[in-house]
Order: sequence, then C-alpha cells, then structure tokens
Amino acid sequence: MSTQVSVSAAAGRSKMAGKSAGSKGDVKNPKLADKGHSKIEWAGRSMPVLAQIKARFAKERPLEGIRISACLHVTTETANLALTLKVGGAKVSLCASNPLSTQDEVAAALVDAGIPTYAIKGEDQATYYRHIAAILNARPQMTMDDGADVVSVLHKERRELLPDVIGGTEETTTGVVRLRAMANEGVLAYPIVAVNDALTKHLFDNRYGTGQSTLDGMIRATNRLVAGSVFVVAGYGWCGKGIASRAKGLGAHVIVTEIDPLRALEAVLDGFQVMPMGEAAPLGDFFCTVTGNTDVIREEHFKRMKDGAIVANSGHFNVELDLKALADIAVSRRTVRDFVEEFELKGGKRVVVLAEGRLVNLSAAEGHPSSVMDMSFANQALSSEYMAKNHHKLEKKVYPVPTDIDQEIARLKLASWGAQIDKLTPNQKRYLSSWQEGT
Ligand SMILES: NC(=O)c1ccc[n+]([C@@H]2O[C@H](COP(=O)([O-])OP(=O)(O)OC[C@H]3O[C@@H](n4cnc5c(N)ncnc54)[C@H](O)[C@@H]3O)[C@@H](O)[C@H]2O)c1
Repeated sequence: MSTQVSVSAAAGRSKMAGKSAGSKGDVKNPKLADKGHSKIEWAGRSMPVLAQIKARFAKERPLEGIRISACLHVTTETANLALTLKVGGAKVSLCASNPLSTQDEVAAALVDAGIPTYAIKGEDQATYYRHIAAILNARPQMTMDDGADVVSVLHKERRELLPDVIGGTEETTTGVVRLRAMANEGVLAYPIVAVNDALTKHLFDNRYGTGQSTLDGMIRATNRLVAGSVFVVAGYGWCGKGIASRAKGLGAHVIVTEIDPLRALEAVLDGFQVMPMGEAAPLGDFFCTVTGNTDVIREEHFKRMKDGAIVANSGHFNVELDLKALADIAVSRRTVRDFVEEFELKGGKRVVVLAEGRLVNLSAAEGHPSSVMDMSFANQALSSEYMAKNHHKLEKKVYPVPTDIDQEIARLKLASWGAQIDKLTPNQKRYLSSWQEGT
C-alpha cells in the first residue's frame, strides 16, 4: 500500500508536523496500515448505527466539500467515524486529543485511506500542539473536538481562521464545560453542538464505556486481582457510576468520594461507602479519579496511602492527580511495566501511578468498546450534518443534540440488536395528554 506520510521514529522528532498544509499526516510508522485496516474493520462490525448513516451519507453526500478538522482519540472507532464523514463528502483531517491515546496502526491506516492524520502514541506536549496546528492549517469550516483543545487554540492563536468556521461539535463533559464558559463570557465565535449531552451519548458511553474500559486499562496495566480489594472512585457522575459498578461486579469493596451531596446520596443508595478522600486514602488498594476537576488526589492523600496503592485517572485531563506533589515527596521513581510507574516515598512506601495520570482506559487499554462508541459517533456524524444544514440559523452558543437525532439513534441501536418496544395505543396517548382523569 502506498503512503506518503512523514515518518517519525520517535515522538519528539516530528518537527515538520503542522508546518505544511498539504501534508498527508504524521504517524509513527506507515507500514502498520494493514494491521490498522483490519482492526478498523473489526470495530466497524460492532457499529451498525454508524454503518447505516455511512450508507446514507454515501448516497446523499450531506457534507460535500466541507473541511472538518477533528481532534479525537485516534482509535478504531474514531477511524470508522472519520471514514463516514469522508464518504459524506467532507475533507477530514485528524489529530489526537490526548498524547497517549493514539493507536499507531489506526493512524497509519487512516493516512493510507486518504485522511491526513497527525498522531503518535506518546507524543510530547510540543508535538501534541504541533499536530493541532497541522489540522488547523487545513482551514476548517467545522471543528470536532474531544476536550475543546482545537476550539481553544483557534480562539487564542489562530483567530484569522475563525471567519471560515460555520460550527463544531464537542464529544466530552470537560469540553462542554469549557465551551459553556466561553459562551457565557461571550467569546465563543461559532455554534457548537454538545454531543456529550445527548442521552444516547453520556448515559451509555460515559457510564458503560468508561466503566468497562477503565477497569480494562487498570487490569491490563497491572494484572492485579480486583476481587476482594478496596477500590476508591473519586466522582460519582456518569463515568464514576460506571467505574464503581464494574469494580463492584469484579468483587471489589467500592468507596466513593464526592463533593456534590445529591451524587453522594445516590452512591450511598447504590450501596457504596461514601467518605472524603482523606479518609479513603489509607484504605484503598486501587484509586481512580473521574471528576473533570483538578488536584483531586493531593500530597496529603498520597502520604496516607498503603504501600503499593495503585492510582489512576480516567477524567479528561491529567490534572486530577497532583503528580508534581508526588514527585516532590518521592525519593525515587521507576517504570516497572508499561504504563506503571512506582514512586518510592521516604520510609520505603511505594505509590504506583498508571499511564502518567492520563486517561487510563485510552492509554493502557483501547478506550470504549466499539458498540458503545457506535452511538456516540452516530451523534457526531448526525450533528455534523445538522450543523451543515442549520448553521445559518444558529447563534454563537452551545446547543444540545436535537431530540429527534437522539431518539432515532436509540431506535436504530435497539433495532440492530433485534430488540423491539411497545407503541402507545390511542387510548394511552389520550390518557397521557389529559389532566382530567384520576383515581
Ligand atoms: N475516560 C474516558 O474515556 C471518558 C469518557 C467520558 C468522559 N470522560 C471525562 O471524565 C470526566 C467526568 O465525566 P462525567 O461525564 O462523569 O462528568 P459528571 O459531571 O457527570 O461527573 C463528575 C462528578 O465529579 C464530582 N466531583 C467534582 N469534583 C470532585 C472532587 N474534588 N472530588 C470528588 N468528586 C468530585 C462532581 O460532583 C460530579 O458528580 C470528565 O473529565 C469527562 O470529560 C472520560
């Protein structure tokens, strides 16, 4: 297979990325393309909803000629989305939304499929931002973000590109929080659809996807037994609920920490112990933060942990664990396995950090199972089509995914499993819309 990509043997060496607008991408090794194609096809088999959208896009070409710059985790599922957008007529360029989440063989396959892709697993901070610059050099008319880094760079450093942009989409909770802050300050320059807020996204992706894949990442990295352990989950939002329930399912005693009384109450009634991190710190064998907040596990917590405690993060940014504080109190640190770093504290106690505190499910495993990303990325594809058709009617705000798109995705997903549901009878419809009937 032919590839014309620039090859970076090591992450920090991709100096040219971002400099040439006509570049075909920057990936670790284009020879991995065959392996990537096979994995993309495998993932696609569990993405029937996106496949139906792709078939319709091929006929209708709703994104004809639109330049989309996407910053997403470069995984097999994202590849299926990028190929769907391309079939729909879009000119897609892609970079990674996290330095550790790229699947190098997938990046190679995408370049081979004609989608300029800038992503290398383990790329350093400078390369990460050069790759964002590279997809912006394609002069986007739409952005597709996971964490709002592209929107942020566009508004801070590349404002000359803003007049071309008609709209965008955002994949995750943290990105939506950032975008709402921009809209509230009146600085958001174009409309964005909050894909994360679709019910067919966060009820399934954040909960079941993050739940399974986070445990997968922690287990793949450590090969430790979860049964019988004490597993501390920080944050009982959509992701936290998933992680707590999967850890419980594997036999752990789960402790939840929260700052929101309602979420804490929900955790108690779901059968979990709830306490502050200060009290959970000496009890946990495993810790996982998933709050979207900063400094959730800090020096005072690391100091109180058991010898060998395993600490990970599955929230969007690597700010939930204060790793600088941990490094400062450590007398030594060493990598013991892939994605497993051990910090030795004074007195010999060891604290083990997974995947540099970055999203453990995407760094040490493969991210969410394809079947769940089917719905998230169906939302991305249909929201892009919605934006292409409706951008002239929209203000510079964050918009929800239209309810009919959400409902249609749920219907298609159920149908793909052969599951059917009842229909309201005329009498039931009347009953539900009337206020006069009672006991
Ligand atoms: N790993 C993944 O693949 C993946 C997937 C989806 C979302 N995310 C990210 O995970 C994070 C959480 O997403 P979500 O959808 O669950 O958000 P959410 O808003 O539903 O939940 C976050 C919870 O954390 C709690 N919280 C905030 N600060 C806290 C603190 N200091 N201590 C304890 N709890 C605290 C909040 O009260 C809230 O209940 C976000 O950063 C999101 O972008 C990651």
